[in-house]
Amino acid sequence: MSDIKPVDRLIFPLDLPNWAAAEKMARILNGHVGWFKVGLELFVSEGPEAIRRLRALAPETKIFLDLKLHDIPATVGLAMAAAARLKPEMLTVHAQGGPAMLRAAVAKAAPETMVLAVTVLTSLNPAEMEELSPEQRAPGQLVKTLAGRAKEAGCHGLVASGREAALLKETFGADLRLVIPGIRPAWARVAGDDQKRTATPAEALRNGADYLVIGRPIRDAADPAEAADRLVAELT
Ligand code: C5P
Repeated sequence: MSDIKPVDRLIFPLDLPNWAAAEKMARILNGHVGWFKVGLELFVSEGPEAIRRLRALAPETKIFLDLKLHDIPATVGLAMAAAARLKPEMLTVHAQGGPAMLRAAVAKAAPETMVLAVTVLTSLNPAEMEELSPEQRAPGQLVKTLAGRAKEAGCHGLVASGREAALLKETFGADLRLVIPGIRPAWARVAGDDQKRTATPAEALRNGADYLVIGRPIRDAADPAEAADRLVAELT
C-alpha cells in the first residue's frame, strides 16, 4: 500500500451547480477531506474563479480539476497551460486522445499537477466497448492498452473502476497512481444509487487504490463531516 496519509486519500466531488452550493459544502468539509474535486458542472458554470475561491476558503485542501480533456494535442496543450495557472494538484485527460495528446498534456501541466488518464468511461457497457475496439475483446484489454499508453506518455496515474484496480496495480505497480470512484462503505445507504459495482474503502485499498472519490455517502449523511471522519478512519 502506498504511503499516503489516510485523509489525503479521500477526494470529495463538489458536483454542484454553482459556487453558493459548493461553498456551503466546502465549508462543512474543510479539514475533513484531503481533496475537493471540481468537475465539469461547477467549472462550466463558475469558471476558474471557483478554483481561486476554493483555494482561499480551504488552503490546506488539494484540488482535483476533473475536466477530462480530449482534443487535438495543440488544443489540449493550450488548455493545460491555462489550467496550470490555477495549479490544481490533479487534472484529468482522456487516454483515448492518443500519445501525442497525452504528451502535450503532461508537458504543459504545472509541476505540482498530477496528470491522470481516464481509460474507458465506466458508463460504456461491454457491447459498446467491443464496438469501439473489436480487436480488444478480452475483458480489461482496452483499459490495459490505454493505461500503458498513458504511462508511456508520462501520465502520473489513472482513474479506474474498482473492478480494474487490481489488474492495473499488478501491471503497472507503483508507476501509476490509482484514483477509484464508486466506493460505498458498509454503513452508507444511498437512495436510488446508480453505482452498481461498488467496493468498500477497505476493498478498494486492498485492490491497490491510492485515492478514493467518495460523494454521496458523505453528502447525504446526516452529518457529512462526521461521515468523512468515519471514512478516513477506514482508510488507515
Ligand atoms: O460516491 P458518488 O457515486 O456520489 O461519487 C460520484 C462521483 O464520482 C462523481 O463526481 C462522478 O463523476 C465520479 N465518478 C463516478 N463513476 C466513475 C467515474 C467517476 O461516479 N466511473
